[in-house]
Amino acid sequence: MTHTPRAERISRWLAAGRLAALAWLPLVAGLSTSPADAADLPHPWVQFTATGGLEARAIVAPGMKCPQVMSAKTPLASVVRAEPNEAFPIQVCATPIPTGADRLTVGGLPVPSMPRQVNRVAILGDTGCRLKGKYVQDCNDPAAWPFATVARLAAGRKPDVVIHVGDYHYRETPCPTDRPGCAGSPHGDNWAVWQKDVFIPAEPLFPVAPLVLTRGNHELCDRGGQGWFRTLDPRPSIECVAQTDPYTLSIGPLSLLMLDSAPANDQQADPKLVPVYQEHLKALYAKARPDSWLVTHRPIWAFVLNGYVPVGTTTNATLQAAVANAMPANVSMILSGHIHSFMTYDFGGVRPSQLVVGEGGDAIDEIAHPLPVGQSIDGKAIKRGMALGDYGYVLLQRVAGGWDAATYSLSDKVIARCQIRGRSIACNPVKASS
Ligand SMILES: [Fe+2]
Repeated sequence: MTHTPRAERISRWLAAGRLAALAWLPLVAGLSTSPADAADLPHPWVQFTATGGLEARAIVAPGMKCPQVMSAKTPLASVVRAEPNEAFPIQVCATPIPTGADRLTVGGLPVPSMPRQVNRVAILGDTGCRLKGKYVQDCNDPAAWPFATVARLAAGRKPDVVIHVGDYHYRETPCPTDRPGCAGSPHGDNWAVWQKDVFIPAEPLFPVAPLVLTRGNHELCDRGGQGWFRTLDPRPSIECVAQTDPYTLSIGPLSLLMLDSAPANDQQADPKLVPVYQEHLKALYAKARPDSWLVTHRPIWAFVLNGYVPVGTTTNATLQAAVANAMPANVSMILSGHIHSFMTYDFGGVRPSQLVVGEGGDAIDEIAHPLPVGQSIDGKAIKRGMALGDYGYVLLQRVAGGWDAATYSLSDKVIARCQIRGRSIACNPVKASS
């Protein structure tokens, strides 16, 4: 990993003329959340936008100038995306990256450009530390909440693109007083939580590859939506809306159909949302290249195996009603998270396969081993499938005719290998000794 040490980064930022902004810090010192401290500011990152291009983003302390973004020796214009407020005493800067821009730096720090070739894709999801009522993770224990390890290992594989399949923000209620493992953790939709749940642990990924970012249900407006729109949503507006419009991404061989499933009820088809999703899907189908993947946080066809619902419950009723088992042939796979495990579903080609990569850090869901092959979901039988309950991420390697997938565990070992060819996904476990 070539991640620049934080102290070095900070000294470079300060040398770039941003020290004066620290004078603003006392202005926010009385706020309920921790003020942004230069030593805690994350490395700038680059993400795909809803118009298919790239945007560099950076977080600076209130009143700071946005860092200078350069493409080789050409300066690029930045805007302030989000001004500070009480819950988010930070300023978010955004810089559209022109087509062909290369050798990008933000405040002197190198950030990734549009990849010339896309041969390796890292996928991860459901990454924050759960604090919600009685559901509590030991956020202070990297073994109990391992997103930082997942991000570091995934970054070390040098992917060309990183896809996060959603659910970043998890610290919703206070750490119980009898749980020292999460003592001192912030909670709520504020910068202190976003910093701990996302920007500190994910930092190793930022210098490595541009990010495809999917909104999850944890980023709904009554959960982590304010932070999502301020920092990560791929559109210019920071106003929190219940549902965002679909968009497509064409990244080398990847044709991604991005669908916001955050508000889609899992177990009951929402009669108001079904027609909306039908329109969204229609718009995506019209732009789908052959072998497209629909990227949407909630799986369309998967078992919910998490203890919250009866065994055998499937998801997602709203999206299933909208799709009506009529997805066009050029959609090959649904790429999702939401269920906290690694799962694959192959329906014999009668519909796209379903890949779930939700094992990125939040408490693993109790899953069935093996996946109940032969059972039907939404009227189609599972022909082949796999379910694994280890933390980790997936790395795709481009091969002739498709992609090979390796599922990595926290020990940086491959625990399953899959061949993805069109609508077929065939996986085999890898024994520990290999
Ligand atoms: Fe979710």
